[in-house]
Amino acid sequence: MAKIKKIIIGNWKMNPATLKEARIIFSKIKKIASLCKKVDTVICPPTLYLSPLFSKSSGGAVALGAQNTSSFEGNGAYTGFVSPSMLKNAGAEFVIIGHSERRREGETDAVINKKILASLSVGLKVIFCVGEKERNHDGHFLEFVKRQIHSGLQGVSKKALPDVLIAYEPVWAIGAENAILPRDLHQMKIFIRKVLSEFFGPNAVEKVPVIYGGTVNPENVETLLLAGEVDGFLVGRESLNSKNFGIILQVAHSLK
Ligand code: PGA
Repeated sequence: MAKIKKIIIGNWKMNPATLKEARIIFSKIKKIASLCKKVDTVICPPTLYLSPLFSKSSGGAVALGAQNTSSFEGNGAYTGFVSPSMLKNAGAEFVIIGHSERRREGETDAVINKKILASLSVGLKVIFCVGEKERNHDGHFLEFVKRQIHSGLQGVSKKALPDVLIAYEPVWAIGAENAILPRDLHQMKIFIRKVLSEFFGPNAVEKVPVIYGGTVNPENVETLLLAGEVDGFLVGRESLNSKNFGIILQVAHSLK
């Protein structure tokens, strides 16, 4: 199987409070990222900060991503929306779609699917978040994740697939005290690959990275990578702490 470069994505959510702080954190992360060449680093700041951070990052070690997009392409009479092409023009290469914090606000699988298709059509790379709310012993959560993947990727062509990353983020592990157990993560990674290859065919999904999000920190990053065998991480809280995020990048860079 082709080796995928590790990808570490910081999701800043609705932080930090000012552009000034954002610039400071971003430039510290950029410095460390430039030394971690075996890792692709992406920061997803609030939409308003994309353009100003982009002007500082062009050609640099950190790519930018948006945290959301409208499902409408181009432009038009959609008050308060920002389209995928506008995000791209503002410097985003990636976009997070289907995060549980947006699903919680009512975003449905059908809307997520439209957003994914609209984003891929303008050449954005999609960080597609899936994950169960809770786990029980009957394995129902596996079916739940499978359904999310099927609905989200409905109509996505094999050709567009290299621009999709699956971010497995069990809702119970986001903003929590503990991350998932590496053994359970590994099991889920295999399951997601199986679902993808049943849907698209085994060759098509070889290059789709499966990453993990939910309480990733400097202490657990190594075991999650080695025993979980994921292709990278979507990091929330610790991505606002440049020192800790830097450690996460360095660990990922130093592992084979
Ligand atoms: P966390 O958030 O790392 O703070 O748990 C992860 C996420 O919501 O993407």
